Amino acid sequence: MTDILAQLEARRDTARLGGGQKRIDSQHAKGKLTARERIELLLDEDSFEEFDMFKAHRCTDFGMEKQQYPGDGVITGWGTINGRLVYVFSQDFTVFGGSLSETHAEKICKIMDMAVQNGAPVIGLNDSGGARIQEGVASLAGYAEVFQRNIMASGVVPQISVIMGPCAGGAVYSPAMTDFIFMVKDSSYMFVTGPDVVKTVTNEHVTAEELGGASTHTRKSSVADGAFENDVEALTEVRRLVDFLPLNNREKPPVRPFFDEPGRIDESLNTLIPSNANTPYDMKELIEKVGDEGDFYEIQEDFAKNIITGFIRLEGQTVGVVANQPMVLAGCLDIDSSRKAARFVRFCDAFEIPILTFVDVPGFLPGTGQEYGGVIKHGAKLLFAYGEATVPKVTVITRKAYGGAYDVMASKHLRGDFNYAWPTAEIAVMGAKGATEIIHRGDLGNAEKIAAHTKDYEDRFANPFVAAERGFIDEVIKPESTRKRVSRAFASLRNKKLTNPWKKHDNIPL
Ligand code: HXC
Repeated sequence: MTDILAQLEARRDTARLGGGQKRIDSQHAKGKLTARERIELLLDEDSFEEFDMFKAHRCTDFGMEKQQYPGDGVITGWGTINGRLVYVFSQDFTVFGGSLSETHAEKICKIMDMAVQNGAPVIGLNDSGGARIQEGVASLAGYAEVFQRNIMASGVVPQISVIMGPCAGGAVYSPAMTDFIFMVKDSSYMFVTGPDVVKTVTNEHVTAEELGGASTHTRKSSVADGAFENDVEALTEVRRLVDFLPLNNREKPPVRPFFDEPGRIDESLNTLIPSNANTPYDMKELIEKVGDEGDFYEIQEDFAKNIITGFIRLEGQTVGVVANQPMVLAGCLDIDSSRKAARFVRFCDAFEIPILTFVDVPGFLPGTGQEYGGVIKHGAKLLFAYGEATVPKVTVITRKAYGGAYDVMASKHLRGDFNYAWPTAEIAVMGAKGATEIIHRGDLGNAEKIAAHTKDYEDRFANPFVAAERGFIDEVIKPESTRKRVSRAFASLRNKKLTNPWKKHDNIPL
């Protein structure tokens, strides 16, 4: 028996060594951790249970039968993050560059199937040279099996991808179908076709970093939701995110202990709005002052900064926040911000996360760039996402809520449960100046008359009371009591039940 146990341990040691010490050293020399080290950092200590440690590839072409590494380039299994179940795969770049073979794909599929059956998130740590070239179509088939599972798992369990090395070609489409993609700065990249092909086809000269590095995907393409300095930071932040999320779509988000008084009054909020309606202020200050302990997990921080999306907790419970940011483009809605917020709202709704919306929006961004780019269809995504969402929705208008953007931003008319406004709110079709210039076009040459009309319009419409008189605003609240009012509102909505009519699926304007 002792012998058998020693043999088992020896086999395990071989498997743990992946592609060998030399390749492990080379991985470390690039500033990257190995696949196993990453899992250790991601999961609670000693919680990892591995599957298929000895699984071997079946390829016999190109002398591959002589090159066997137990586990075949991906480590799979389950463990816990702060005591909550998650399934994980971690590609091992030291084995055939982490490339995906038929058996490598089978291992990933196995844990994805288990994750869906048992209702727990899937976290994929990607570090791969793509399809295992020696296996040809068997590898492509493997990818497609993973893709199909990504699609079936979407909206059932949270799926998180961390890109920690290469991710190229069709391989990008598995992370692309997951809920969140995070990248590691300087050591990861994602693209459909690499710099060499780009040069041949379009004659553009571009580095891998420029084409698909973390900065490109968090600032320009919005493919990635966040970028971190190194492997350790990325894995620590994924743990932090998982703490906000429910394990599956049938479960409520987790409730954490909280030490912040839900009824906390913050008088500094009474002076957040500047006296000049066109002076910006930082909406993040409001978010941080409302959430428990000022903790805010921002999603897509570097993209479409005119809207802010992320998670806070109220009375220990996760709440998704969407907020216009007056500091950027005056907080207007445009193509990018509509897309960003729509995807976030849909994630929250799919996973029963209540939505808090802070509104200060002067309207949609005008211009040919926006119209040619399809702002109609993209803006409709956000409208659609809010309108179909059945989770508790609480909205606070802090200042401007003009035109169609007022309707879009979780208004009462889109089944908002609690619609609050600060006394500084201006709910109208447009700003006073623009309105006056249209209604009183005949007086345009007379500055005095125009000023009087503008003042008249401001007095009449630049306030929350016209909407409140109609019941579109449930209550005009003091800024200082926002946390208290919003926390109480969500607490009263904990048993909310609302269902949409049966349909196979909707037809959101994609
Ligand atoms: C098999 C691979 C491999 C692959 C790398 N390796 N990619 N083996 N299939 N796809 C092996 C290398 O032979 C090498 O083996 C080891 O992994 C490390 O690779 P290096 O090239 O030495 O590393 P590095 O210099 O860091 O370069 C990494 C790389 C490069 C940029 C990823 O390896 C590369 O370009 N690989 C090919 C990428 C590719 O074209 N893949 C197919 C894309 S198409 P040894 O034994 O020397 O350690 C695709 C389609 C998916 O993926 C379709 C889904 C629908």
